[in-house]
Amino acid sequence: MKRPILTEPDPRLHQPADPVEEFGAELKQLVADMRETMHAARGIGLAGPQVGEMKQVLVLEYEPESAQEAALPFLALANPRITWTSPETITLTEGCLSLPGLEGKVTRPRRVRVKGQLPDGSRTIIKASGLLARVLQHEIDHLNGILYPDRMDPGTQPLPIQT
Ligand code: NI
Repeated sequence: MKRPILTEPDPRLHQPADPVEEFGAELKQLVADMRETMHAARGIGLAGPQVGEMKQVLVLEYEPESAQEAALPFLALANPRITWTSPETITLTEGCLSLPGLEGKVTRPRRVRVKGQLPDGSRTIIKASGLLARVLQHEIDHLNGILYPDRMDPGTQPLPIQT
């Protein structure tokens, strides 16, 4: 079931989410709902607090329209933690379903390692680069109450998406 997406300035977007402790049917339903919500909004990542669920859950998926771009296979992660970040950084333009119509340049580590749990509770470690590294960092920030404007250079702010 598609759920409403919270947008700024909803205070829940700025609060840390709670760890997932039960890996049962309720979590699987939340993941399914988040995937449907993300698809309907044409997003490539979504975090629990964005649908008002203050739980450490994220989903991501991207199917490019051109073969030149890399796809992101669907991934749902609970309790993700960044365990390593590369010293090299990269500046990319980010958007967010909770800040519709806006985008901004954000500098983040180019590669990360993330540990977390799949919806069945099993533990996993992901070595990410490229778009996956970027989306993981953006969504994990959501779970800590951080939005991408908080990561932008001082004195800069999101601007309307240029189409
Ligand atoms: Ni976002």
